[in-house]
Amino acid sequence: MRHPLVMGNWKLNGSTHMVIELIADLRKELSTVTGCNVAIAPPELYLDQANHQLAGGRIALGAQNVDVNLSGAYTGETSATMLKDIGAKYIIIGHSERRTYHKESDAFIAKKFGVLKEAGLIPVLCIGETEAENEAGETEAVVARQLDAVLSTLDATAFNDAVIAYEPVWAISTGKSATPAQAQAVHKFIRDHIAKQDKVVAKQVIIQYGGSVNTANAAELFTQPDIDGALVGGASLKADAFAVIVKAAAEAKRA
Ligand code: 13P
Repeated sequence: MRHPLVMGNWKLNGSTHMVIELIADLRKELSTVTGCNVAIAPPELYLDQANHQLAGGRIALGAQNVDVNLSGAYTGETSATMLKDIGAKYIIIGHSERRTYHKESDAFIAKKFGVLKEAGLIPVLCIGETEAENEAGETEAVVARQLDAVLSTLDATAFNDAVIAYEPVWAISTGKSATPAQAQAVHKFIRDHIAKQDKVVAKQVIIQYGGSVNTANAAELFTQPDIDGALVGGASLKADAFAVIVKAAAEAKRA
């Protein structure tokens, strides 16, 4: 039985004040919820502050990026060992915004995956097709290619203690979520693709859906058998909305 994970990706949003308020509100809203793992990924600058505020609670700390190097002359970067040191647990890699704006390749992302595993951190590997690829019927080929970058350099066991987030690029920040059936079909494809190498790993790997998840569509998405939670952008910036999504995951997977 897989335990769902709902994670908030705050992207480039926040301030000292906002981190104080939002985490205090989240701790209040989620204090009694069980049956769903919860994490938030604030901007890197606020990770230490967030970690202190999350102490003793049930919300885990995540980060939005990591460098492939552990130390040295790499101006502006943050290493896996630093993220571990600061108390982070889940690290988002391969987000489409980084693939697009920072030209991150499949191979580079696979390298990050390996570095995180070495450091004992949990990669949250984002994969997903663009609108053009979707319309061209290339969704499965794209997500297979993105998975194979990791599967060919490490192997399927690397997905033990790792998370996959299927985020169709056309659904991110657009208000146009994939339908539960559309998402389920791709999630099943992803699980089956990993099962070709390792059935046990495929059965237990957490596959989140991401892309315009909100209070109105979360519950139905979570009723799908291969959707194990969500990676939430915009709706994670409001404690009440994020709490509704977490509770929907806990409820759906308890049933
Ligand atoms: P939205 O929930 O704002 O569409 O963002 C999804 C996302 O990119 C999470 O990583």
